[in-house]
Amino acid sequence: MADIASAGAAAIAGAAALLRAGRLVAFPTETVYGLGGDATNEHAVAAIFAAKARPRFNPLIVHVRDLAEAERLAVFNEPAHRAAVRFWPGPLTLVLPRRPGVGVSLLASAGLDTVAVRVPAYPVAQALLREAGRPIAAPSANRSGRVSPTEAAHVADDLGDDVALILDDGPTPVGIESTVLDLSGAAPALLRPGAVTFEALTELLGPVSLPVSALPKSPGMLPSHYAPRLPVRIAATDARPGEALLAFGPDAPPGFAEVLWLSRAGDLVEAAANLFAMLRRLDRPSFTGIAVMPIPEHGLGRAINDRLRRAAAPRGS
Ligand code: TXA
Ligand code: MG
Repeated sequence: MADIASAGAAAIAGAAALLRAGRLVAFPTETVYGLGGDATNEHAVAAIFAAKARPRFNPLIVHVRDLAEAERLAVFNEPAHRAAVRFWPGPLTLVLPRRPGVGVSLLASAGLDTVAVRVPAYPVAQALLREAGRPIAAPSANRSGRVSPTEAAHVADDLGDDVALILDDGPTPVGIESTVLDLSGAAPALLRPGAVTFEALTELLGPVSLPVSALPKSPGMLPSHYAPRLPVRIAATDARPGEALLAFGPDAPPGFAEVLWLSRAGDLVEAAANLFAMLRRLDRPSFTGIAVMPIPEHGLGRAINDRLRRAAAPRGS
């Protein structure tokens, strides 16, 4: 099993030394736990893909300390600068043209001429970046296709021996991944709804296009992702035999084998923070499936519904 260490100063220094030596370290951010590797080391980045068992080279987010460091890796246009000033540090990832000749692993960009950069706000992540003294490539610290980890134990369950050290700082406060915004093209494009809301982005930048995954269409259009083992049924208003329920709002329909409340108060922030941990808790063979009550399609609800639609999408082979 991987070493789990409480994220104090000594453990963070140890984690930074492991990163500099090319090893992988899981660490908390404000969104979810990341599986970090030295973004300037091709071997470390390749090890991230191997540990996640990613079927293909999906590009990774490169985490940096601040805007100045991000500007050394990527070319910022005016909207990118505005978004960074407004939302960094914080749960926004910007896809921008790579600066030619920078030392960031080409594999981290999966061969694209863009790079995804993010400045996390979470103090442990900031301290780790400072100690490591280099950018850290970090996808969510789950096996490919599984639910993202919001607690150290989730990382240990999924990745075990493939990570040298897990820095534990309790549950992550936001609980859903960063928003991925592509500003490398002619117009802003949302690639992944996340913790920074679509409404907040359009208010700052004007029109932003939405991905298919963020449109409330049939889950059948989406690749399955973020999936528990049990089938997931969204917008459920009644019980089917043996199902467990993720409830939202004060009243849950009767007849479910077990009910966990994403938020009794109908609070989307609370629901996002609980989402992945509760999906994991209900993912037990004693149930026939996980039903989820309707979640409103605004604010953080867009990101929650995006993840739920993917979890409910027909499973591949
Ligand atoms: O909250 C988060 O973003 C977490 C924490 C650890 O920072 N990280 C995370 O990484 O969720 P990951 O690898 O699970 O998701 C990265 C997303 C993927 O959807 C990927 O396709 C997209 O960002 N992405 C990364 N680089 C890209 C690029 N150059 N062009 C387009 N999309 C990119
Ligand atoms: Mg992920």
